[in-house]
Amino acid sequence: MVFKIGLLGLGTVGSGTAEIIYNPQGRHPLLNDIAIHKIGVNSLTKKRNIELPGDVLTTDLESIVTDPEIDIIIELIGGLEPARTLILKAIASGKHIVTANKAVIARYGSEIFAAAKEAKVYVLLEAAVGGGIPIVEPLKQSLGANRIENIIGIINGTTNYILTEMTEKGSDFGEVLEEAQRLGYAEADPTADIEGYDAADKISILASLAFDRKVKREDVYSEGITNITASDIDYADKLGFVIKLLAIAQKTLEGNEETLQLRVHPTLVTTSHPLANVNGVFNAILVEGQPLGQVMFYGPGAGSGPTASAVVADTLNIVGVLQSNGKGQTLDPLLSSAPQTQADISPIEDVNSRFYTRFLCADVPGVIGHLGTAFGDYGVSLASVVQIGFQGEFAEIVVVTHHVREGNFRSAIEEIRSLNAIQDIPSIIRVL
Ligand code: HSE
Repeated sequence: MVFKIGLLGLGTVGSGTAEIIYNPQGRHPLLNDIAIHKIGVNSLTKKRNIELPGDVLTTDLESIVTDPEIDIIIELIGGLEPARTLILKAIASGKHIVTANKAVIARYGSEIFAAAKEAKVYVLLEAAVGGGIPIVEPLKQSLGANRIENIIGIINGTTNYILTEMTEKGSDFGEVLEEAQRLGYAEADPTADIEGYDAADKISILASLAFDRKVKREDVYSEGITNITASDIDYADKLGFVIKLLAIAQKTLEGNEETLQLRVHPTLVTTSHPLANVNGVFNAILVEGQPLGQVMFYGPGAGSGPTASAVVADTLNIVGVLQSNGKGQTLDPLLSSAPQTQADISPIEDVNSRFYTRFLCADVPGVIGHLGTAFGDYGVSLASVVQIGFQGEFAEIVVVTHHVREGNFRSAIEEIRSLNAIQDIPSIIRVL
């Protein structure tokens, strides 16, 4: 039996997906059982670098999601609308969904999964996180025996590329961003990537799967990389660290009280850590659970071929289940996911972290003593204090703390800002 696909979007990932489906030789035999029925695009006249059958393109995307002949909708248009509405309409019409759309799943996942459960259809999203890296299905299936404790990922290729270039070339953020845009590694509007929003979408999806909780996207703390300077990268290096934009999901248990910490921020990572050597546009996700311990998933986190690889794998998963179980049967619980319980997410002030902080201060007696006292007043214990040199007339001091509740650290910083000898606090970066 041949299953018919409605493909929404023929951009980078859409073209990669069509390419695989039209060329099944040497790939999984189930690929011979799927056929692209319609492709929804914005323009019928745009030049494409893929050969397509004459009547496959249409600009009427709504007609695709309601077409009775179509079994599976592959949504690759991205963005919130019309993607959300089209997905919900497709589900209401009994179609299974494969999507790469992290933004829509992070914000409307609960609504979409509930509708899918009701309609007894699958919504698979391997391509939404980590591009070609298998991480969504492993969390649902291969790691299902584990109690997941934490996930730490580099899940935005653009920012990892920028930080890697800054580290290797000693260049400043703005310079590297411009170069990345010129080379097509960064979007014309890079906000979602450089502000950490894209990584926050992705970690909220991973956390929801790993901890079986509904996650409110707005509860995920995110801080981007726009304030990272070449000097911080240099000082970090001298202290034995590299700077990475990490997305972290962690479960904490106090008695029976379970809370999740969900955050995205630039982080000093010790050079011996497995994530420290994940460079360029590559992504990696380190998952820790019991009894497995740690496992790391590494690979190309974006791009046409890698993302299409994940899209088609999801499509094959659905076709495989439909082949063996038939349509309209009970959903396979290992493939479908619909957490019922809302996550209790800790405010960032309650998260314990270590901090790297750079101060510019007057070179007068007692400054380090004043810093130490202010930190001590709020219970912030210091791991190291180094005066690294001068910027003009001001001494530059770098402090690394031990683990401390972020709220306490922030209160200490407020007090330190008011000290006469403190000229500026140019950087505060969390340490893994
Ligand atoms: N903008 C994303 C990144 C692409 O840079 O990783 C894939 O989600």
